[in-house]
Amino acid sequence: MSRYWSDIVHRLKPYVPGEQPALAHPVKLNTNENPYPPSPAVLAAIRAELGDAAEVLRRYPDPVARKLRETVAAHHGLKAEQVFAGNGSDEVLAMVFLALLKHELPILFPDITYSFYPTYARLYDIEYRTVSLDASFAIRTSDYAVPNGGIVFPNPNAPTGLALPLAEIERLLAANSESVVVVDEAYVDFGAQSAIALIDRYPNLLVVHTVSKSRSLAGMRVGFAFGHPDLIDALVRVKDSFNSYPLDRLAQAAATAAYEDDGWFRDTRAKVIASRERLTAGLKALGFDVVPSSANFVFARHSSHDAATLAARLKEQEIFVRHFNLPRVDQHLRISVGTDAECDVLLEALRKLLDGSAG
Ligand SMILES: Cc1ncc(COP(=O)(O)O)c(C=O)c1O
Repeated sequence: MSRYWSDIVHRLKPYVPGEQPALAHPVKLNTNENPYPPSPAVLAAIRAELGDAAEVLRRYPDPVARKLRETVAAHHGLKAEQVFAGNGSDEVLAMVFLALLKHELPILFPDITYSFYPTYARLYDIEYRTVSLDASFAIRTSDYAVPNGGIVFPNPNAPTGLALPLAEIERLLAANSESVVVVDEAYVDFGAQSAIALIDRYPNLLVVHTVSKSRSLAGMRVGFAFGHPDLIDALVRVKDSFNSYPLDRLAQAAATAAYEDDGWFRDTRAKVIASRERLTAGLKALGFDVVPSSANFVFARHSSHDAATLAARLKEQEIFVRHFNLPRVDQHLRISVGTDAECDVLLEALRKLLDGSAG
């Protein structure tokens, strides 16, 4: 706190990311990173980009990430002008809030969702209303049929992992032609239907993607927005009023190579999905209720053991899972899908904790 702070800084409630422990070999299942490395082609592309490092690093990167945007556009059957690239999808979302969601009416998002949304809203002084998920944590699209300044939600939702069918998203788009609907598809590759297929029919749709999860590149910080060129133009205007070069050279080269190696993407995704089903079965065998997940994490609660206590006991063993001290979900753990070996370490630790009355 300082007298030099602006009013808005006093009012901010910054997002708190999951812990990145400084340990040699933690079992790290708390931030939904991919347990597998990126494609070897990504590492080769970074090395090639460095080439004569001193010469390359001296110059600014491409401010519009043209090659990357063209590659990703071709991958999704879009045009480059329908693609915006930013420094991680968090930054893309931050620009979306300012460029497309700051209007007279409040914006809407689920009561249980990605906790960065209220943070952005407060940063920009955007009024928001949360809409309750139903008892099984599903988004009821009919609840969003009220005048609004925009709608934003992840699909699959975070931290539940529950996916909304594409037909429901289309219903929401059709009923909200006056406002922008943002579908944050950070986890879509692990089992949900992408709304990208609807972009050409709905000029109010913006879809946000990231390379952090299904392409194993959280450390490179690259994210995208896909939508009508007019929406993309709004994001470019905000970007160019903030930072012309959000993506460095290595990030652009790495992300481009990740999209070019589709085989690696498909293989690692299949492994994560198989491990998710195995982890889910293991948790259920220990007495956990597990929300059906279409993501690279599961959301689970035990009827007789306190979630915060379990998370703390696991942490003592250098096993990290995420616990949110929030209404309705404070008895749940969000567990990222690791390798089968990591999931087995977790399941064995949980088995001992539950046997030994960790309650
Ligand atoms: C729903 C959701 N959206 C966006 C992000 C941000 O991802 P990144 O900034 O790494 O692209 C996350 C990260 O955990 C997320 O869970």
